[in-house]
Amino acid sequence: MRTTVGIVGAGPAGLTLARLLRLAGIDCVVLECRDRAHVERRQRAGVLEQGTADVLRAAGAGERLDREGLPHDGMELRFDRRRHRVDFPDLTGGRRVTVYAQTEVCKDLIALAETDGPPVLFEAEVLAVEDVDTDAPRIRFRRDGREEVLECAYVAGCDGFHGVCRAAVPAAVSRVFERAHAYAWLGVLADVPPSHDELVYARHDRGFALLSMRSPTVSRLYLQVPEGTKAEEWTDEEIWDELDRRLETADDWTLERGPLTQKSVTPMRSYVHEPMRYGRLFLAGDAAHIVPPTGAKGLNLAVGDVVVLARALEHERRTGSPALLDAYSATCLRRVWQAERFSHDMTALLHRDPGATAFDDRLQLARLDRVATSRSAAADLAEGYTGFPFG
Ligand code: FAD
Ligand code: DHB
Repeated sequence: MRTTVGIVGAGPAGLTLARLLRLAGIDCVVLECRDRAHVERRQRAGVLEQGTADVLRAAGAGERLDREGLPHDGMELRFDRRRHRVDFPDLTGGRRVTVYAQTEVCKDLIALAETDGPPVLFEAEVLAVEDVDTDAPRIRFRRDGREEVLECAYVAGCDGFHGVCRAAVPAAVSRVFERAHAYAWLGVLADVPPSHDELVYARHDRGFALLSMRSPTVSRLYLQVPEGTKAEEWTDEEIWDELDRRLETADDWTLERGPLTQKSVTPMRSYVHEPMRYGRLFLAGDAAHIVPPTGAKGLNLAVGDVVVLARALEHERRTGSPALLDAYSATCLRRVWQAERFSHDMTALLHRDPGATAFDDRLQLARLDRVATSRSAAADLAEGYTGFPFG
């Protein structure tokens, strides 16, 4: 089998790239190791930056997003039982975010690929990418128990953090920057209307809590838990009780409870692999970088990377110049590091570190108070949250 761009992974990065290349008339094939139902059901991110929603719309994947996505013009910060709203359009010159789940983004892009191409091969496990430092890279994969090869001009490594593409960059070239966090998120889905119409990010002495949503009838909630926690260690009642404690306010706000339909633990990690390009291999999304989820940046970064990549491949096809491909890594990394910084700062602002002292607690509250009282501090947060420009 042969194509121009071999895309490994059908997450948001691989599927968006496939769509952008299809529109540009550049051949590609997507190889995905899991089955379609798994990709469409995997509960992950929920917040689309303005720029991400605009990219999806321009790519023809905006119809259901505009119908069912929930536009949000602000978020609430909760600390010391106080509530403070951050108004995005007011602080950013009109920007907002859209709450639309990653599962739905993937479903929409898979449906488009199904009717319009390119081919997305599910249950096709990539074993290795080879010869990426030559003009003829090869992707070896296994499907239906048989080994096959996809020959291509370029490889897009969109295979997430645990994928195989990053390993094709020689150790002598790779540089890894990372930071571990001593806590994780316990995330639940609940069949109950969200108790607030905007996302609530809460700082509490017992740890962080987040109230988000999937639709007007489904809530998505998260609790900071110690690293290594298993979801089964928490009963549904314990989860609701803890959310109640951490989200409590001095006014008459209450948290509505409902049946929990899913529970899972997400580890927290900050990680960047440099460079994002080696020869004809281009890493995009979680394959190249991970942010802690507090800033809701993971999916948005993945889309940003492939916008830069699609533009560079199109430029090369049109002009013969590899200039934008050569600049790919540096262009993406500028935005990636802004998102790392933002996600790290927002994580530190809202989580309780196991080693935190009373002094650290007071500093954290002073930082939150600063956001609540200074327009420039609030604008900094709103700008970061609604998104940095694509390179
Ligand atoms: P992925 O979505 O990981 O997609 C990679 C794809 O490659 C997968 O479909 C995988 O099956 C496939 N693949 C892997 N190896 C191979 C192989 N060898 N051969 C073929 N295919 C392969 N972000 C937020 O903003 N908020 C959140 O709440 C949040 N929660 C998360 C929870 C979890 C458990 C995880 C892992 C991530 C979460 N993220 C969250 C991050 C966000 O979901 C990711 O940043 C986003 O999915 C990145 O998209 P991607 O396409 O780069 O990678
Ligand atoms: C969601 C996830 C996030 O990481 C975040 O910061 C906000 C919302 C969510 O899954 O809805």
